[in-house]
Amino acid sequence: MISPRVEINLDKIWHNARTLVQRLAVHGISVTAVTKATLGSYEIAGTLLEAGVDTLGDSRIENIETMRHAGVPASMTLIRSPMLSQASRVVKHTDVSFNTELQVISKLSDCAQKAKRTHGVVLMVELGDLREGIMPDDLENAVRETLRLPGILLKGIGTNLACRSGVSPDARNMAELSAIADSIEAEFGLRLEIVSGGNSANLPWAISGADTGRINDLRLGESILLGREPLHRQPIDGLHTDAITLIAEVIESKVKPSQPWGKIAQTAFGVNSPARKQGQISQTILAIGRQDTDQSGLGPPLDIEILGASSDHLIVDSGVNRLSVGDEMTFQLNYSALIRVMTSPFVAKVVTQRSSRQTLKPADKHYATTRPEGDSIVESSITLSNTMPSCLQLSVPDKPLQ
Ligand SMILES: Cc1ncc(COP(=O)(O)O)c(C=O)c1O
Repeated sequence: MISPRVEINLDKIWHNARTLVQRLAVHGISVTAVTKATLGSYEIAGTLLEAGVDTLGDSRIENIETMRHAGVPASMTLIRSPMLSQASRVVKHTDVSFNTELQVISKLSDCAQKAKRTHGVVLMVELGDLREGIMPDDLENAVRETLRLPGILLKGIGTNLACRSGVSPDARNMAELSAIADSIEAEFGLRLEIVSGGNSANLPWAISGADTGRINDLRLGESILLGREPLHRQPIDGLHTDAITLIAEVIESKVKPSQPWGKIAQTAFGVNSPARKQGQISQTILAIGRQDTDQSGLGPPLDIEILGASSDHLIVDSGVNRLSVGDEMTFQLNYSALIRVMTSPFVAKVVTQRSSRQTLKPADKHYATTRPEGDSIVESSITLSNTMPSCLQLSVPDKPLQ
């Protein structure tokens, strides 16, 4: 089978998404599934929608365009503030975007008027993590100016925590967001449809039984795809942590000394930490490297230790296991490793179809070809396109894997 590859199990992704949708529904919270790690895969998008998520959110307009062209029937939100240079694409392909700059919203307004469309805006509020967000004291003015702009509909407010500084969502900052929603509504005599509390890091707070107040939406990526909450990277009870795995192939397997010899300077990627073991080890090299993934985010099988990585080589101590050239090794992934394997054109994407599902057919052959009926596994690969320079396309060859 082709290697290296990520194996994407749609049944497990469906289960994770469905479980989270149901757990949050009890608290009056709906799910925006964040698709940025899936590069606009229509199969994953279709699975998320079948699991009951309300909206798809992505940080890259290219992924949203890919899903639109594939005919994914969902409301789509751009969850990163739009670039001025992409405003017309944002208006054309998304229903809503997250915003923090009036200059950008004004450009979206111009584009919306030209396109004779209405574009929804969620204003992001800074609550301490110090990434995107309008400072709370400046929000009233931002709302006032946004409401003046033709072609723009203020859909709600949101916040994002735990990304840059690791600030945890808790009763205090979530109550603050709820209070801000109430005060904006009172001041302007309007109803905010969306109060988006955050990302997978909000899950411990949301399902703890705390008062969820006005929060009615969470945007979930990592928890759906990897089954973990990002605050402590613990598995979430009842979710699969292996819905997506990486498989790499052995290209060298030898008994070697654990310690290098010669005069030691920098390695290809800076300073190496000294080898911990003494004596001889079973050193195995796999054909995947830093160009494809974040080696520090790989979870090797039991008894296998990752020793290092260069651009194209992953070096492991295989312990008592002597592996042969051509053998394969399976790794679990953290989010950092995941987004890099998904973006590497050298890593094939193998989607295991859901055992029973209504297939979401791609609308446009340019993006994906249909698979033969009845095949359970379809090989797909990410290819860089010259015709759409800024867009990574998912192509699904019509040949099933053996
Ligand atoms: C604004 C925003 N919301 C939600 C998410 C999803 O985060 P997570 O994968 O932790 O659920 C991200 C990151 O992907 C984001 O940037």
